[in-house]
Amino acid sequence: MLYASEHPLVRLKVAELRDVQTRAPRFRELVHEISMLLGYEALRNVPVASRTVRTPLADAPGYELGVTIGLVPILRAGLGMTDAFLTLVPQAQVWHLGLYRDEETLKPVEYYNRLSTGQPPTGHEVEAWVLLDPMLATGGSAIAAVDVLRRTGRRPLTYVGLIAAPEGIRALEASHPDVDIYVGAVDSHLNEQGYIVPGLGDAGDRQFGT
Ligand code: PRP
Ligand code: URA
Repeated sequence: MLYASEHPLVRLKVAELRDVQTRAPRFRELVHEISMLLGYEALRNVPVASRTVRTPLADAPGYELGVTIGLVPILRAGLGMTDAFLTLVPQAQVWHLGLYRDEETLKPVEYYNRLSTGQPPTGHEVEAWVLLDPMLATGGSAIAAVDVLRRTGRRPLTYVGLIAAPEGIRALEASHPDVDIYVGAVDSHLNEQGYIVPGLGDAGDRQFGT
């Protein structure tokens, strides 16, 4: 399922994010703010369990999170989305995954992965995985990240990104049709260097000033 936000607040913030005049401090704020808005949508079906809350006056029906959520930020650029999701779901686990795109082949290269070896604490196994990466370009990085999870038997999965190219959406949907895709905007195409057009340039460099 593809969800491309049409919310005016997301549109305003994505426009400012794209702007070549937007410097790293404001860029990071915008990544955070857009991630909060997209996270609100992406987590709309998260299971909750009933509990009773005691107000100063009486008992009231209340809720608590019904599943353990695992966030998978793809380094580096996905780091900027992580705090926004932790603000929404402070009890989530964070499993970093290091991938960079080879500039020649555009294929993802893995350099940090504790998902394939790490054992979560007993009783807190993640039941809902959320992949965080601002840019869905060729789709190679997102597909590689889902592959890592699937190889170790981890299933329910949502991808959240800020800007996607049609090529990346098609590739991710073809490889993993059961992954729900939430993005802030769908752009025109990829250029010959694999950058999203009009896009915003390099999301990692713009966040971290490199
Ligand atoms: C960027 C981006 C994605 C990837 C998307 O990462 O953050 O992870 O490219 O491209 P794809 O869909 O074609 O795989 P990059 O390799 O630039 O690494 P960085 O986050 O460290 O800058
Ligand atoms: N990675 C980015 O940071 N930007 C793009 O446009 C494509 C991949």
